[in-house]
Formats: sequence, C-alpha cells, structure tokens
Amino acid sequence: KVLDGKSYKWFMHKELHEVPRKIKEQIMMPQEDLDSFVKTILEAERIFITAAGTAFYAALAGKFLISNFGGPYVEAILCSEFIDTLPNMPENSVVIAVSQSGETADTIEAIRYAREKHGAKICSIVNVVGSSLTRYSDEVIITTAGLEIAVASQKAYCTQVSALTLIALRIAELKETYSVEEIKKFRDALLKTVDIAENILIEEGKIREIGEKISNETNIYFLARGISTSAALEGALKLKEIAYIHTEAYAAGESKHGPIALIEEGFPCIFIAPPDATYSRLIGNIMEMKSRGAKIISVVADFDENVTEISDYTIRIPIENNKYAIATSIVPFVLTLQLMAYFVSDFKGLDPDKPKNLAKSVTVK
Ligand code: AGP
Repeated sequence: KVLDGKSYKWFMHKELHEVPRKIKEQIMMPQEDLDSFVKTILEAERIFITAAGTAFYAALAGKFLISNFGGPYVEAILCSEFIDTLPNMPENSVVIAVSQSGETADTIEAIRYAREKHGAKICSIVNVVGSSLTRYSDEVIITTAGLEIAVASQKAYCTQVSALTLIALRIAELKETYSVEEIKKFRDALLKTVDIAENILIEEGKIREIGEKISNETNIYFLARGISTSAALEGALKLKEIAYIHTEAYAAGESKHGPIALIEEGFPCIFIAPPDATYSRLIGNIMEMKSRGAKIISVVADFDENVTEISDYTIRIPIENNKYAIATSIVPFVLTLQLMAYFVSDFKGLDPDKPKNLAKSVTVK
C-alpha cells in the first residue's frame, strides 16, 4: 500500500492519507454539474436525503449544511426505513441519495420506490460511475474518492460531505442568503479544509496517542450537538466497525434522558465541540457528565479554551477563528475521528481493512 513513495501497513491508513487531494478534486468539480443538480433540488416542494451507514452520516451532515446555509428543510431518512416512513410520499419531491458503491440494495429500493411509485426526482451523490444508482438518477454528482478498498468508508465520506457543502453554498448563493463576498469567503474556507486535512495527517501522532489511551475501553459515548451529531455518529460507527468497541452516539442534549444512567468514574465520553452556535450548550452537557465522573475527551478547535479546561484530553483541529472556517469544518473533525478509529484498531492488532461480518457494499435488503 504505497502512496507518494511512502508505504502503509493498511489500505485504510493509505486511503485516509489520500483525503486532502480527494477533497480538493471534489471542491474543484465542474460548476455545470453542480448547477443542474441544485436546480433540480430547488424546483422540488419537498426534499429528502437518504443513504445507509457512513453514507447516511454524510447525508445527515448535508441536511444540516443545507439548512445552516439558509437552504430549504431537508428530511433525512435511512434508506431501509424510507418506504415505511413515507407510505404516502408527497408530490413533487426530490430524493438526494448518497452512496459510495451505488449498489446498496436498501438505497436502490428506496429511490426506485420514490421514483416509480411517486414520480420523485432522484439526485445522487455516488462514487462508482455506471453503478445502479447512477442509472436510476435524474442528476448525478460523481465523488472523486476513487477506488476505496478499506471496507469502512472514509475518503468517500469526506468527498460526499465536501460535495454536500458545495451544494449548500450554491443554494445559499442562488437564494442570496449571504452576500457575494461572504459566499466567496465560505468557498475559500472550504478550500482551506484541504490544508487543514493535510496538517491533521502530518500531526497524526497526536491522534494516535489519544487512540492508545482509549484502546482498552469497552464502552464509549460520542456526544455532540447540531451538525456535529452527524460527526459523533460517524466516529462511533468507525470505532465500532474496525476496533470492535461498543460505542453509542447521542445528541448531547438527549444524553440526560437515558445515557447518563451509565456514567460512573472513568466512563469515556468523546465530545465533538467546534466553536459554533452549539458550543455553550454543549459545555452544559459536558459538565453533566464530568460531574458524575466521566472521562472527557474532546475534539476542539485549535484556539479553544473553555472545553479544553474541563477535558481530560483534547484533540485539536487547526481551523481559523472565523465563522467561515467554523461553518465548513465538519470534514476535518470527522477525518480526525476516522483516524483515531484506525489507530485504535491497529493498537488492538486488528485488521481495519476487513472488519468481521461487514461487506463493502451490502447488496441484500
Ligand atoms: C461499511 O460497513 C460502511 N461503513 C457502510 O456503513 C457503508 O457506508 C454503507 O453500507 C453504505 O454503503 P454505500 O455508501 O456503498 O451505499
């Protein structure tokens, strides 16, 4: 597994190191492909987004990105729940489907149902050219991840979320939610995530250290608010899939309605704490756990002070202290969690590329 003359023990590690160039290619994607995709979305009365697994967590991030940038409400529904959630699908709907393989049986079933029974338009974000999903779609954005060998998706996820950020920004531009200058600043900030990802990878030893600290844990909570809840879900899934640790991701505000019952001295809680609108409320949730003895591990911006002060360990994300950088930082936060899961798996002597019982593409319903 060689990349740029450097050899990697596992495909997952090599593919994580491909993230900066892959997201750069995505961010530079042709404007025409983006425009017709966005036009179709904006013509619809109702917008749904669907996917499975990691792709669903990218979809959830997309739902938040579109609304955070002033776009329309998007309902996110797991593809395996799609038909049962929408027995009477509204007319003039668009379904955005997100998939690495474009062959996930539940995703195909959901979009065929939406298209054939209810006349919905299908806009897909898919990595494999010529896959079944591309054939059933009205609009397609091809992600630039390229061949992903590790079963647990990572560079595909990062390109999916980069594409969804572009979609959100284009919608904001068309709806004039922000001035032309501000849109440009958001786009520049998005492009800077390439360098941020690069820096995270250069400094990956720090993430490895935290990975070592949690590698003997048997249960871990991942808690966050808003868009970061999708990051928490993805971080928890990765650790579960490749390091076989029981993890649970929760919207932090919900943690006092149940998960808090398990907290005792040393119970590890990973908080994803970017300095966005959720920050001060998240601190309240951290304190609820900390005061009951939880070990607090937080993923924070480089310039963070308050969450750092109440955490046992922090992983610091090198983002700039401005609203443009903060609003476009989901990929760097998630890349960090994916890398951490990789290191934990490696510490435990496991095979992160082929986790047991999992398939790269699930073609059964
Ligand atoms: C492998 O287990 C992946 N982590 C899994 O969640 C995957 O993302 C999901 O099965 C969807 O696959 P797709 O992106 O190919 O549709």
